[in-house]
Amino acid sequence: YRSLRVALLGGGSVGAQVARLLLEEKEELARRVGATLELVGIAVRDVDARRSVDLPRELFTTDAEQLILGADVVIELMGGIEPARSYILQAINSGADVVTANKALLATHGPELFAAAEQVGAQLYYEAAVGGAIPIIRPLRESLAGDTVRRILGIVNGTTNFILDRMDTERTSLEDALATATDLGYAEADPTADIGGYDAAQKAAILASLAFHTSVPVEAVYREGITTVTKEQIESARKAGYVVKLLAICERLTDPETGEEGVSARVYPAMVSRTHPLAAVHGANNAVFVEAEAAGSLMFYGAGAGGVETASAVLGDLVSLGRRHVVGGPGLAESTHAELPVLEIGAITTRY
Ligand code: NDP
Ligand code: HSE
Repeated sequence: YRSLRVALLGGGSVGAQVARLLLEEKEELARRVGATLELVGIAVRDVDARRSVDLPRELFTTDAEQLILGADVVIELMGGIEPARSYILQAINSGADVVTANKALLATHGPELFAAAEQVGAQLYYEAAVGGAIPIIRPLRESLAGDTVRRILGIVNGTTNFILDRMDTERTSLEDALATATDLGYAEADPTADIGGYDAAQKAAILASLAFHTSVPVEAVYREGITTVTKEQIESARKAGYVVKLLAICERLTDPETGEEGVSARVYPAMVSRTHPLAAVHGANNAVFVEAEAAGSLMFYGAGAGGVETASAVLGDLVSLGRRHVVGGPGLAESTHAELPVLEIGAITTRY
């Protein structure tokens, strides 16, 4: 195999899991890509910080700029606007493709980054930026590209869903549930982004832009967080047969006053009937409903946050990009290999 140099920026909840999987699954990933994915280093702030995963110390560096030089793919998992934005631009301008999970950056500087990538023919992938492990970016960008999406309705923040769920099912306080969500690696470095609804608004801007083939600035997303939701409100919602969920709603609408056609995106806590499928989204899971003219209603569901779960989406982007680098390598159709035999087992009847 030839080798692709992968530089990782960030070794926190998500980055450490990406690094672990890159090292542990190196051979299997090489077979799927047709090239070895060589993790050349991990840029962090403190090389001696305690990590959730044991990783070779020699991989860590504080010199992100040096690490980016010569990389084929740069994975940005530091979060925040700067220096993440500058590092991504450096990576693009030095000829690397980029994978990021940074919705805060994409929702505010997306057009700049995509333009920079387009100018030099680089790719910028971001499946992990919305919905954690759930494949939702690629379905909207590719699978539904020929359809007309009318509405997206979803739970797109794992931390707030975890908190509201704990407040509902275990009568936990918002503060205690947030502390647990932070320990579990779900929350943003500044959890105000989660509980204030900013993270969900950033994701709504990304989803609306993709779904409606337009540019929806995050400032145009109506936003309310969950900080004012009380235990009493959750209790009375329960008694009435409802559950409180932080919803993101993106729609093609006609302005009732002007008659103008346009797009609306909004994030706010809403009462959801306990019989609605969204009411059954527990813990840090997310769910996104997409209503399209031809396809009808589609539902995407799964882990919306968490280090290893999100690492799955990051690695998916990396494998896709890796395949683009390998001329004559295993394409999408030929990416199977003869390692696993097909077992001749008949029907196994069990309860599903
Ligand atoms: P963490 O805060 O756990 O990790 C951030 C990492 O980046 C740390 O290793 C930190 O270094 C490093 N870092 C931060 N700033 C700098 C800097 N200036 N220079 C060098 N290194 C830096 O974040 P997460 O892993 O939780 O999140 C990463 C990204 O993924 C974010 O954009 C987040 O929004 C996104 N995301 C997170 C999900 C989750 O469930 N956690 C899910 C989906 C997306 P050090 O370790 O030394 O502090
Ligand atoms: N803090 C985010 C959440 C991480 O809780 O949903 C996943 O984007």
